[in-house]
Amino acid sequence: MSGGDHAPVAAVTGGAGGIGEACVRRLRSDGWQVVVLDIDIDQARAVAERHGAVAHAIDLADERSIEEAAAFVEREVGPCQGLAAVAAHLENPHRPESQDYAEWEDILRVNLTGTFRTLTCFGRGMLERRSGSIVTVGSITAFNSSPLQAYGPTKAAIINISRNLAVAWGRSGIRVNCVCPGPTRTPAVEASYARGERNPDTMIRETALGRLVRPEEVANAIAFLLSEDAGAITGIELPVDSGTLATQLWGLYGGVPEPMER
Ligand SMILES: NC(=O)c1ccc[n+]([C@@H]2O[C@H](COP(=O)([O-])OP(=O)(O)OC[C@H]3O[C@@H](n4cnc5c(N)ncnc54)[C@H](O)[C@@H]3O)[C@@H](O)[C@H]2O)c1
Repeated sequence: MSGGDHAPVAAVTGGAGGIGEACVRRLRSDGWQVVVLDIDIDQARAVAERHGAVAHAIDLADERSIEEAAAFVEREVGPCQGLAAVAAHLENPHRPESQDYAEWEDILRVNLTGTFRTLTCFGRGMLERRSGSIVTVGSITAFNSSPLQAYGPTKAAIINISRNLAVAWGRSGIRVNCVCPGPTRTPAVEASYARGERNPDTMIRETALGRLVRPEEVANAIAFLLSEDAGAITGIELPVDSGTLATQLWGLYGGVPEPMER
């Protein structure tokens, strides 16, 4: 793909965040025109400036804002061919009986309703043109139990939504896939380590590779699934998790083994 005015257009929601910015960087280097969409418009502008992209505000909790952002992309930048739906409301681990229901509603509004609405709003132009590719961002918390009481169920729902749309829109030329990161060292997560809400060493012990994921490694998977190289791939979930899902039963047998001696 070559850059310039006729380059295909991709929108990245949550583009101001850690994984979002890595996506913007990677998609720009792959030759896409990129629109950075985020509720944090100052950060979105800074990311856009760093990578030669366009910034625009979006609030996934507000249906008009999502409609307006999709219309902005089509009107001001060009036909949207790729969508990376990265934005999410994160959550800290807690016990179910101490759930804050205001936060529960916020998480469902943004991650569940907001993501679904983003897909349908940005999908409209793709359906008219019978061409487009969408990547949603789930999480490994979608596949098993975790103490992320509201966030985990919304990420499981994002997988279900992605598969539904992959089938509903497949014969209209639109692919929909879901990338599911494991613990990824983004600034938001690093800040959470610093506040003592998560422990990177505990998390590393649960990986097969013995290290956490880098934001650009999630972005690489998203860029692949958005690209024509993935032209026959739709309706899948791709974990990018340093092998965390694979280690599940090893704790029963003493944990993940240390490296073999040479
Ligand atoms: N970092 C991890 O360990 C990890 C693991 C699994 C999944 N994920 C997923 O990856 C994605 C990115 O995570 P991250 O670590 O880069 O987090 P992040 O907080 O850096 O990025 C999230 C972005 O979404 C934006 N956002 C939040 N609410 C919004 C709203 N209402 N409207 C529009 N934008 C909004 C934030 O401003 C932020 O820029 C999320 O979907 C997250 O659930 C991350």
